[in-house]
Amino acid sequence: MLSLSLCLCALLLAPSVSAAPASSISSVASQASASASTIGTASTAVFESSSTPAGTETSSAAESTATVPYASTNPNYVMWGLDNGTPAPIRGSLGASIIGPANVPMEQENPDLFAPPTTDAGTVGNAKWPFALSHNRLQTGGWARQENVDVFPIATSMAAVNMRLEAGAIRELHWHLTSEWAYVLKGTTQVTAVDSQGRNFVGNVGPGDLWYFPPGIPHSLQATNDSADGSEFLLIFDNGDFSEDATFLLTDWLSHVPMEVIEKNFKATAADFSEIPAQQLYIFPAAAPANTDPVSDPQGQVPDSFTYALSQVNNTPSAAGTVKIADSTTFTVATTIAAAEVTVPPGSIRELHWHPTMDEWSFFIEGEARVTIFAAQGNARTFNFQPGDIGFVPTAMGHYVENTGNTTLKYLEIFNTDKYQDVSLNQWLALTPPALVKAHLGLSDETIASLSKTKNIVI
Ligand SMILES: *[C@@H]1O[C@H](CO)[C@@H](O)[C@H](O)[C@H]1NC(C)=O
Ligand SMILES: *[C@@H]1O[C@H](CO)[C@@H](O)[C@H](O)[C@H]1NC(C)=O
Repeated sequence: MLSLSLCLCALLLAPSVSAAPASSISSVASQASASASTIGTASTAVFESSSTPAGTETSSAAESTATVPYASTNPNYVMWGLDNGTPAPIRGSLGASIIGPANVPMEQENPDLFAPPTTDAGTVGNAKWPFALSHNRLQTGGWARQENVDVFPIATSMAAVNMRLEAGAIRELHWHLTSEWAYVLKGTTQVTAVDSQGRNFVGNVGPGDLWYFPPGIPHSLQATNDSADGSEFLLIFDNGDFSEDATFLLTDWLSHVPMEVIEKNFKATAADFSEIPAQQLYIFPAAAPANTDPVSDPQGQVPDSFTYALSQVNNTPSAAGTVKIADSTTFTVATTIAAAEVTVPPGSIRELHWHPTMDEWSFFIEGEARVTIFAAQGNARTFNFQPGDIGFVPTAMGHYVENTGNTTLKYLEIFNTDKYQDVSLNQWLALTPPALVKAHLGLSDETIASLSKTKNIVI
């Protein structure tokens, strides 16, 4: 009896073995051997028509029935959380305990890498980078740590810096090749800029609000003393090659110009410039800014504000949680970066979707998240995220963002584009002829009728 059922399993599984990766073979094998009756049902459904009554066929064309086995309906939950469960590379009958060395905190944070859902398959480039793994640059008055393609190769289109300034501290006057988009995490930051037509700008930016400087526009950042701690913010640059160490700094430049040229340029004497720094300052302490008044400017102010109060924006309709979108339709100057700030309540998900023409760079602010990236050709991989982590989803790849914790999940979706766009899987199916959907997925009329013709975003 035992040898007969083993033999049966082997025969039934033979056709899928050559196409499926090793992990899914053993998963199918374990599910198959668990229940002989399930195998019988599945194989019947696979190889016989159930929708066309016998004897009514008038054509030799293939029938609209499934030609491959049904996907498993077994759940694939996260195996443990940060505070519950012991990490082990075991899922059901798959895997085995770890008996060599283990980095337990890392394994606790990445349950879906260590014990992946059986729906994962093939290869997807690493799509998680914790700022905690970034080298930090400590200065008097603050710090800065960056993420770019040097550490996170998948993220070719955007790079980021997480920066902290104590009250009054200044990120010095500078400019760079890329645009700069920012989201304030804590405190208030005062920004200044002057555009190429000599129009100036000063603005204070608080938690949840944004700034944006077009490429090459000189600017400064300074924490106010609105909060005793100063401020912390996230900077996004629209090129994954960006390096915070390669920006053009005022002090760095002037310390590399011959003094007689400085004298001619400013119609000044060397004595007037005898106290300029001999090297760059980058981040340094100073007295907090006293007000937000710009210098009187004969050219006037920049026509489009370099700051945007995202915290004051109305939510985009969503079935659950909150979604706020900022792109060039409202934050007109921000033509190379668009963003959505999303909250997902416990038990909810940011629905299955993709972004048609742009990469997504995500930043996790609060809570815990699980994301599976579908990369076509059967490739899918699942990642887990905690506060301070970065995620990345290449253009057009399908994904969801699930709140896997007990608290609200809050994160940012950031895109190198002028207009936010996404395609909802649910809405797509609801607005496609039902017969077409049924032919693909075998859904009942009731299930098809319950699809949502409007976008739910978070459900
Ligand atoms: C904040 O900074 C301003 C300007 O430097 C200063 O006048 C004020 O006393 C400071 N407030 C606190 C609470 O330090
Ligand atoms: C989340 O809630 C579940 C169910 O109430 C509980 O078992 C678990 O310990 C909680 N986890 C945390 C991190 O609070």
